[in-house]
Amino acid sequence: MDLQLQGKRALITGSSSGIGRAIALGLAREGVAVVIHGRDIERARATADAVLAAGGAAAVALGDLSNDSGGARVATDAAAAFGAIDILVNNSGTAQDAGWSGSTPGEWLALYDTNVVSAVRLIQALTPRMRKNSWGRVIQIGSAANPNPLPAKAAYSATKAALANLTVSLAKELAGTGITVNTISPGVTSTDAFREFARTFASSHGLQDIEAATRTLIDGPLASPSARLVEPNEIAALVAIVASPLGASINGANLRIDGGFTPTVN
Ligand SMILES: NC(=O)c1ccc[n+]([C@@H]2O[C@H](COP(=O)([O-])OP(=O)(O)OC[C@H]3O[C@@H](n4cnc5c(N)ncnc54)[C@H](OP(=O)(O)O)[C@@H]3O)[C@@H](O)[C@H]2O)c1
Repeated sequence: MDLQLQGKRALITGSSSGIGRAIALGLAREGVAVVIHGRDIERARATADAVLAAGGAAAVALGDLSNDSGGARVATDAAAAFGAIDILVNNSGTAQDAGWSGSTPGEWLALYDTNVVSAVRLIQALTPRMRKNSWGRVIQIGSAANPNPLPAKAAYSATKAALANLTVSLAKELAGTGITVNTISPGVTSTDAFREFARTFASSHGLQDIEAATRTLIDGPLASPSARLVEPNEIAALVAIVASPLGASINGANLRIDGGFTPTVN
């Protein structure tokens, strides 16, 4: 199927690693010119080099999105790279959160800035141009921790709920402009960070290796009807569909990609 993405221009925040990197590579394969973002130049360049090696078009924009000046710089550099941004994927974020017992109010606020206001900064900077072009896509990467909040990740879960919520108000705000706004909410995904977690889990539970730890987790706390972790390239495929002109009627949605982990109708 031709997703009609050829020639579009995307900024994928947090594409220096993990899910964001997979989204950037996936969009680039569909002919999208991608702006790779992170705070670390080496990690961001490594993703950009992978896009270029695969025959795609890539540029790099660096900056900390948890403050206004960093957000403004990323938006300016990203728009300058290919002339404008048609597709904004707000993926950057962190799950570093010590839960109800360990996080101070200040840490809740800082996480909100990093995971939520980061997206707001780029939305406010980049959607005016999308309006002028009468076309655009804004996609927030949420989490299964929104519909199924975790006490050990209480602040993180709340930030993901906020992203899903602002998606709907923004879709209403941009009604009739040709811009759609959606949240894509993954379950636990097979990234380097998960493998690191599985390594620690294996040694603390007397398990042989990462594979044994992963199976124990999938059979236990991470049980889902699909009985597997989410793969980053599966999230990339869903992003590509939502970002494409063929996704014009997907709007204001929260699309779960969690193997059925969230046990609700929607
Ligand atoms: N992995 C999962 O199982 C899972 C499940 C559900 C949802 N998610 C969500 O998916 C997204 C990506 O997760 P991931 O596991 O791929 O994460 P990751 O590998 O840790 O990558 C996080 C990315 O965000 C960037 N970032 C973090 N804080 C930033 C800040 N203050 N300013 C600018 N950039 C910042 C990092 O840039 P640097 O290179 O500078 O560090 C990195 O590129 C996150 O929003 C996460 O909440 C993940």
